[in-house]
Amino acid sequence: MSDSIIERAYEEVNRHKQTVERDYHRLHYHLMPPVGLLNDPNGFIQWNGTYHLFYQWMPFKTGHGAKFWGHYSSTDLVYWSSEPIALAPTDWFDKNGCYSGSAVVDDGRMKLFYTGNVKDEQGNRETYQCMAESLDGVSFEKKGVVITLPEGYTAHFRDPKVWKHELDWYMVIGAQSKDLQGKAVLFKSEDLKAWTHLGVIAGSQENNVGNFGYMWECPDVFELDGKEILLVSPQGLAPIGMQFQNKYQTGYFVGSLDYESATFTHGAFQELDRGFEFYAPQTTLDEKGRRIMFGWMGVPEQGEEAHPTIKHKWIHSMTLPRELHLVDGKIIQQPVEELKMMRKNEVKYMSVVFDKREMELKDIHGESVELELTIKDNPFQTFAVSFRNNVTFKYDRHSQIATLERVSFVTGDIEKRQCSLITLEHISFFVDSSSIEIFINGGQEVFSARMFPEEADKSIVFHGNGDVIADITKWEIRP
Ligand code: FRU
Repeated sequence: MSDSIIERAYEEVNRHKQTVERDYHRLHYHLMPPVGLLNDPNGFIQWNGTYHLFYQWMPFKTGHGAKFWGHYSSTDLVYWSSEPIALAPTDWFDKNGCYSGSAVVDDGRMKLFYTGNVKDEQGNRETYQCMAESLDGVSFEKKGVVITLPEGYTAHFRDPKVWKHELDWYMVIGAQSKDLQGKAVLFKSEDLKAWTHLGVIAGSQENNVGNFGYMWECPDVFELDGKEILLVSPQGLAPIGMQFQNKYQTGYFVGSLDYESATFTHGAFQELDRGFEFYAPQTTLDEKGRRIMFGWMGVPEQGEEAHPTIKHKWIHSMTLPRELHLVDGKIIQQPVEELKMMRKNEVKYMSVVFDKREMELKDIHGESVELELTIKDNPFQTFAVSFRNNVTFKYDRHSQIATLERVSFVTGDIEKRQCSLITLEHISFFVDSSSIEIFINGGQEVFSARMFPEEADKSIVFHGNGDVIADITKWEIRP
């Protein structure tokens, strides 16, 4: 039984390989599922030089269900190899899905912590926090359940993120309390086997955040430049102005965690990414001491069924890996420097003046491109760049608002996401065949989005209202 479902997953990959690969929306330099659906990044870790990134994977359809852990590895965060399936939903404690979780290294082994999702015949949910171990980082042996559901929570209790602080291990879990409030819950262990429930460290109706969602998914706690960060994906926030425009949100609290009393004193929630598709990110500390994050470039239940890649039997991707820093209480995200290895055929324009007309520049176009703009003079009112007649980034100096517009792949209408931005000095666009990631002012604001333009249209069009002067560099990105 257990082997057969794994074999069936590999068969599914082979059976649809051509259909998947023939899709012109297939990305050139982002991680995707070989077939089926990919969602959250899981178990992100570097071990003996090699980065491991696992992912939530449904091989049998382009919808959600009993998830596997797929596995990629890399020595440089650029070239990734596909590894054998790490976890499959084959046991009583994970039969309806090996849900999200994390990895640590201890005692010469890689240890995965994940949520075993179980549903009975009536559809009632059960949840188990489970462990699996590996000596080689390739094949994993399940060790079974390490934590059962404590009192006070519903079965929406999942996504263990484990880390070591001084001599002890800690785990944060995303939860829903019995009165249907989203929470982040802390556990402690000396040996990664016996875990003590320390209680809620943050949540809706906790620490003065007020009503803040009915479920918190995929929490991650880590130290960043001297502070503790809780990164989390709350569900159930209503839009407020330009904030919380997606179906579900991802953001962070900056504060300080007192491990003794299990209390987290923190400031306000800040959204991490201002674009259309970003959810459930996970970080790791790599061997160079960098805090690196991958996100899922998708949002649950947000037009998923309308993705045009579905007819090619696959859906969703990861974001680029981003290095995080904390500057003035805000997380700054920058694409890891290794990505520069993929730059080819540099094209450079110095002091380009954009006037009122739409303008294209020779050799500045393409579908796998990094485009960097340094704004030298900032006298302009509005400035815009359009990609492939599908997505437009705009900055309006008067209102101090940055806007990402795109043609909705659900309705065909123009939709937008926005944030306030006091000045625009620098922008990096990472354009892939069906995605865009925009890093503003060195990662002060980031927009991530999927886009599905016409195959033949590779245009990049600039527009300035007022005299905008910018240096422009473009590279093809070729992994
Ligand atoms: C977030 C999430 C997690 C869960 C996983 C299931 O996208 O819902 O909470 O573990 O996806 O695939």
